[in-house]
Amino acid sequence: MIGILDSGIGGVSVLREIVKLIPNGHFVYYSDSINNPYGDKSEEEIYAIVKNIVKYLLERGCVAIVLACNTASAICVKSLREEYPNTLFIAIEPAYKMVHDYNPSGKTLVMATKGTLNSEKFLALYRKYDNGRTILLSCSGLADIIEQGDMKKVDLYLEENLKDYRDVNNVVLGCTHYPLIKDRIKRVLGDVNFFDGSIGVSKELVRQLKLRSIKFCSDDKLSIEFVDSSSDLAKRSRFFKLLARK
Ligand code: DGL
Repeated sequence: MIGILDSGIGGVSVLREIVKLIPNGHFVYYSDSINNPYGDKSEEEIYAIVKNIVKYLLERGCVAIVLACNTASAICVKSLREEYPNTLFIAIEPAYKMVHDYNPSGKTLVMATKGTLNSEKFLALYRKYDNGRTILLSCSGLADIIEQGDMKKVDLYLEENLKDYRDVNNVVLGCTHYPLIKDRIKRVLGDVNFFDGSIGVSKELVRQLKLRSIKFCSDDKLSIEFVDSSSDLAKRSRFFKLLARK
């Protein structure tokens, strides 16, 4: 079984891509919506929260854990790998290198949480590929309203916070919740190129599983278990609806 975690249902954008590559995998998805948003919490708080989820997923017998949350990845993956050297952790990161590969001279907006943008891990990536035409936009509160599914609030937020960036060509969606609102971002910014880390992380997961000869496919059908830390029962149906969306 492969474990996938996020601060809510945003990581469904990652699971969608993973399922394309592992269509008969067994997955347990942990949606920590009670602690959403992670982005404005301290590094210590986030690490403690994520470590508890990791313990749970390991107890459930996961052979690999995907951090389908840019914030958790940026802050926790290094320490988790040190603390659990025998566990395979796959970590997403804002797809800023993809901009460098596909449209390096384009004006670029990186949208992510404060926690991600302030992290050493992201800053190292940014310094390496900085094209001199990049704006880093900390989208405090955005993951939270996407998680609530309140699209009116999302539209107001985007109009208010993105209106000064209508001249960008590239938008890096540096939080796994943001690919869920691509169409709404386009309404404000027009026909921009989107970059997100979900395809890269899925390929890396398969590559690492093969490299380590970890059995990850079976003859069975796909199975996805959804676990949420809150008592909000509506999460499950929203999650599976989003998963089925192309
Ligand atoms: N999906 C998380 C991420 O990718 C959301 C962060 C949050 O909870 O603030 O960063």
